[in-house]
Amino acid sequence: MADLPFPDAGKPNWANQTIWTGDNLDIMRGMNSESVDLIYLDPPFNSKHDYSAPIGSKAAGAAFKDTWGLDDVNLAWHGEIKHDNPGLYDLLNATRQVHGDSMMSYLIYMAIRITEMRRLLKLTGSIWLHCDPTASHYLKLLLDSVFGRKRFRNEIIWSYSGWNKRLKRHIERRHDVVLFYSKKEQMTFNYPTRPWASKDEYIKTRKQKVRIDDDGSEYVLSDGGSGQRVKRYLDDAMSYGIPLDDVWRIEKLNNSDTTERTGYPTQKPLALLRRIIAVGSNSGDTVLDPFCGCATACIAAQDLSRQWVGIDISPKAADLVQSRMQDELGLFYRGAHREDIPRRTDIGTVLKYNDAKNKRYLYGEQGGYCLGCEEHFPPRNLTIDHIIPRSRGGTDHISNLQLLCGACNSVKGDRPHEYLLACLTDKGFIKRRRAA
Ligand SMILES: C[S@@+](CC[C@H](N)C(=O)[O-])C[C@H]1O[C@@H](n2cnc3c(N)ncnc32)[C@H](O)[C@@H]1O
Ligand SMILES: [Zn+2]
Repeated sequence: MADLPFPDAGKPNWANQTIWTGDNLDIMRGMNSESVDLIYLDPPFNSKHDYSAPIGSKAAGAAFKDTWGLDDVNLAWHGEIKHDNPGLYDLLNATRQVHGDSMMSYLIYMAIRITEMRRLLKLTGSIWLHCDPTASHYLKLLLDSVFGRKRFRNEIIWSYSGWNKRLKRHIERRHDVVLFYSKKEQMTFNYPTRPWASKDEYIKTRKQKVRIDDDGSEYVLSDGGSGQRVKRYLDDAMSYGIPLDDVWRIEKLNNSDTTERTGYPTQKPLALLRRIIAVGSNSGDTVLDPFCGCATACIAAQDLSRQWVGIDISPKAADLVQSRMQDELGLFYRGAHREDIPRRTDIGTVLKYNDAKNKRYLYGEQGGYCLGCEEHFPPRNLTIDHIIPRSRGGTDHISNLQLLCGACNSVKGDRPHEYLLACLTDKGFIKRRRAA
């Protein structure tokens, strides 16, 4: 358990089985640190597609954008990353050189979210990022930068079958990639296996001879360590299943599937999610899917007796989780559908944010300068401001407070600090470099 100074540290500030509608960045910012065991995310891929669900399907009405340009992303995040993680900043600039603005925008969007996800993970937690070969190599660099390259566990290849055409310029692509990283060296990990298909498969693979006991039961002689041969009953030997490798053959949902298919674009098979959740968590643990789509990860988590929470920008997710719980698991959904930004409860009791003590402290910290225009002011001309607004998951904690002059405060309004910095840079107002 986390060794954090506040009583709610490591405890979730939401109920099990919650679906949120909204931008996952704002919502995750309001979630307590170290409160989740496993995060699975299947974000938009930068695939230059805009998806929409077919009319008449359960998911009709759902649509999401998967194309990116510099306008799509608040470019100011770039500045924020430069300040917080210079290595990541250099990496993003390098991708711009190699792959252009669109990939960089996409990666900025992902970088700020992945950084937040790391904070949410328990020390024994892991993250599973589902992507395809268009961006997997860039996302892996990003994860190396946020989680550390030593926390890389696997690049899982999810392969599926289909009719391969004789393409002119490349071979048919038939796999997705799931990047698996842990937060720390020690983590929750259950080695994946599958049942032996038959006795024959076991005997052939293990090259073992089946013998018959006096009472007619079958057994094999297996290596008991230090060269000793020990007798193991066949049923027992087979019960551990066959250990898997990192290439997972699981069929994609096809259009004629009636049990699972919701019509949601990019819906993933439950079998894939079940396997991921079984490897990276135990019964009772908490799973978060911040891009939950038609809630496949939530359904799989429920099925495996995990707690879960899902976020999607499309309100369709909330409807679908309800109908899928009923149709696929035969359960009545009692969870919560939320649209608000949660308030963190793991940062202790904080002073009222506009408390005079806070102001004195910040004035000293900032040396009397406005953190927007960087001009010097007497205390009466500076006011307390939330760096990340409360409406976007920002807290009242001192670490989220700063002093701004009246002019900067009114430009910023209810927007993140990067917005103000971008406006000021744009107009050539920022002269002095902000102290790190
Ligand atoms: C590839 S789909 C996920 C599909 C999902 N794994 C499933 O099996 O249904 C990506 C999802 O991310 C959602 N999304 C895109 N941007 C988002 C954001 N900023 N916050 C939350 N959800 C977002 C989209 O609405 C879409 O449902
Ligand atoms: Zn100012």
